[in-house]
Amino acid sequence: MGLNRLALVCSAVLLLTFSVVSHAGVTSNYTRVAEPSEEMPLETFPPPAGYNAPEQVHITQGDHNGRAMIISWVTLVNDDGSNVIRYWPANTDGSTKESAEASTSSYRYFDYTSGFLHHATIKGLEYETKYFYELGSGRSTRQFNFMTPPKVGPDVPYTFGVIGDLGQTFASNQTLYNYMSANPKGQAVLFVGDLSYADDHPNHDQRKWDSYGRFVEPSAAYQPWIWAAGNHELDFAPSLGENQAFKPFQKRYQTPYRASKSTSSLWYSIKRASTYIIVLSSYSAFDKYTPQNSWLESELKKVNREETPWLFVLVHSPWYNSNGYHYMEGESMRVTFEPWLVQNKVDIVFAGHVHAYERSERVSNIKYNITDGLSSPVKDPSAPIYITIGDGGNIEGIANDYTYPQPSYSAYREASFGHAILDIKNRTHALYTWHRNQDDEPVVADSLWVKNRYFLPEEETDSVDTRI
Ligand SMILES: *[C@@H]1O[C@H](CO)[C@@H](O)[C@H](O)[C@H]1NC(C)=O
Ligand SMILES: *[C@@H]1O[C@H](CO)[C@@H](O)[C@H](O)[C@H]1NC(C)=O
Ligand SMILES: *[C@@H]1O[C@H](CO)[C@@H](O)[C@H](O)[C@H]1NC(C)=O
Ligand SMILES: *[C@@H]1O[C@H](CO)[C@@H](O)[C@H](O)[C@H]1NC(C)=O
Ligand SMILES: [Fe+2]
Repeated sequence: MGLNRLALVCSAVLLLTFSVVSHAGVTSNYTRVAEPSEEMPLETFPPPAGYNAPEQVHITQGDHNGRAMIISWVTLVNDDGSNVIRYWPANTDGSTKESAEASTSSYRYFDYTSGFLHHATIKGLEYETKYFYELGSGRSTRQFNFMTPPKVGPDVPYTFGVIGDLGQTFASNQTLYNYMSANPKGQAVLFVGDLSYADDHPNHDQRKWDSYGRFVEPSAAYQPWIWAAGNHELDFAPSLGENQAFKPFQKRYQTPYRASKSTSSLWYSIKRASTYIIVLSSYSAFDKYTPQNSWLESELKKVNREETPWLFVLVHSPWYNSNGYHYMEGESMRVTFEPWLVQNKVDIVFAGHVHAYERSERVSNIKYNITDGLSSPVKDPSAPIYITIGDGGNIEGIANDYTYPQPSYSAYREASFGHAILDIKNRTHALYTWHRNQDDEPVVADSLWVKNRYFLPEEETDSVDTRI
């Protein structure tokens, strides 16, 4: 709680204009005041009108290749038909609708009982096709739509949004709506964990999971959000009699983990367009012999870069972070998995957790062994870029406690809220841009032409252009 909220509000308005093209790390001292990271009240997000209207609608990829979608929603009561989804391709008149039934459950948490949580996987969708879908009945019917991804292949362009640690403050709202107005428009969101921050409220106020579901619906009902779990998804509270880690999150947010032979919804992979995305769980066991460790080892062998040139990893706790907040919390996972990621030439690792923005150089620190004691990150063309983007704008405020001097692995860092767009052009090039909330969406605070590690393993040229 309360990471320097006061400091943010009190900080002087600083206008900087600089343009840097170099490989020295940049600490941007941008401090224009953003929307406050104060929670939007529960009343901001009433349930939709109509008897038992479906709410908190969100979708995510439902198989390994993108021909299925998991559609999730909540209803207050479990009437006949509340668990049914009807859907049809937008290029038909809808006179013939397919339908599917959701699996439905609810859960108790301390003194709270959830509504009925429905999850339906609709399969056999055509690639690159717009579908309408409908939930609820009679006057409470609600209609949404989504676009399926193009068929998996090496030169398929695709645009992702990247958001982390979103929460539900006025700043979160700015992040979400800035992202929704992005140009090019993101087609799916890579979400690096920490969703509702319900656990920051007394007794982990589960109503905050409901209001979060309503808050993100304007985006999450229309395009898949690829979920990674963060520490705020744990909801582990023995003092409340709540001993099952990740219970509310896993009840509410599903992932297609079985399609990648994972044994837990917290780690899994998908292919989408020209990308292979591996999601890891910072708060599940990952040492040798654990399920996550064995899974990742066999998973990396399955990646065929000729089919999906782009290989991304999502994880909550960053492995390279020069902010005082959460410093080195990701270190044991880094030590365990970094050699594999370098061997497999992962393009980018996205993390959250730290409520600020940071982009690394391509570095690795895998030489160390307990005998020689040599341990410092070195430039490595096979290494991923590490991007920490836990700056969605949650109730805990901004983390502006960078360490000085800026370590050589850190290319750009700034304590502002924002989101990123990853615009994949072809098998060699992707344009990555980070957008701080205080500016209009077209302003780019940090950007890089990312070169694919498999097809074009050349050094990237920084392109940091902060026009304020
Ligand atoms: C930001 O502030 C730090 C600490 O005062 C300083 O070392 C750094 O050069 C500043 N960065 C810029 C871009 O002015
Ligand atoms: C969230 O942002 C949108 C777009 O700027 C705005 O219309 C809406 O009023 C905001 N909501 C709140 C509660 O501030
Ligand atoms: C540790 O590193 C040193 C120096 O590179 C090397 O000689 C030694 O064999 C390494 N030990 C192990 C167990 O890998
Ligand atoms: C890939 O995209 C980049 C950036 O748009 C472009 O410069 C390059 O020519 C493209 N490569 C091919 C083979 O089209
Ligand atoms: Fe976190």
